[in-house]
Amino acid sequence: MNVADDKTIVKEYFNSVGFDRWKRIYEGGEVNKVQLDIRNGHQQTVEKILGWLKADNNLSGLSICDAGCGTGNLSIPLAEAGAKVYASDISDKMVQEAKEIASNALKNPENVTFAVQDLEDLNGSYDTVICCDVLIHYPQDKADEMISHLCSLSQSRVILSFAPKTCFLTILKKIGSLFPGPSKTTRAYQHREADIVKILETNGFTIQRQEMTSTRFYYSRLLEAKRK
Ligand SMILES: C[S@@+](CC[C@H](N)C(=O)[O-])C[C@H]1O[C@@H](n2cnc3c(N)ncnc32)[C@H](O)[C@@H]1O
Repeated sequence: MNVADDKTIVKEYFNSVGFDRWKRIYEGGEVNKVQLDIRNGHQQTVEKILGWLKADNNLSGLSICDAGCGTGNLSIPLAEAGAKVYASDISDKMVQEAKEIASNALKNPENVTFAVQDLEDLNGSYDTVICCDVLIHYPQDKADEMISHLCSLSQSRVILSFAPKTCFLTILKKIGSLFPGPSKTTRAYQHREADIVKILETNGFTIQRQEMTSTRFYYSRLLEAKRK
């Protein structure tokens, strides 16, 4: 299966059955135990990212690119805190949903711009580029290209999360339906931390902070890298 196929399948998945599943996980609808566990784990990752950003910056006016924004779990609170957020996703259903949530939730909707866009087609320049729980959909060689592109958009900081290679494989069968592809051959990719760090360093960034979120079914390594 080549990379074009990966992208096509991911896009189709998040415009159909994946949209419904992840919307329910993210938005608090009725879910099964595995999905509830993933909701809690993902919320922890979101809070860690927001905590880092709020600890460091007056977010007012800070330019942030949220690549693969989903339903806006990061973009919306960041816009609320005053950041100028460019939020994009390959799935138009995800973007439509994020727009609707933002228009109901935000007093300052002008702080966030939403777009349907493959992250590799993004351009512009942002203080901070965030890519949360997206790399899991791509193999390492593609992830390398994506990370390099995200680094090229960032003036000072890149924040990435990914599923670390160590603890992941055993759970894939159980959560298969939450990823594109037939559940027995789940298309969820784990990454070696050393590989992710290497590509960040090649692009002129060094790791500043790291976190790990592990619940029963959700494993996400979070790295913050700053421009050297
Ligand atoms: C598991 S969700 C995470 C959403 C969001 N970042 C969050 O943490 O709440 C993965 C998202 O990545 C998006 N995605 C996957 N590949 C992408 C690509 N090449 N460019 C932009 N978005 C992509 C999917 O459509 C989906 O909305």
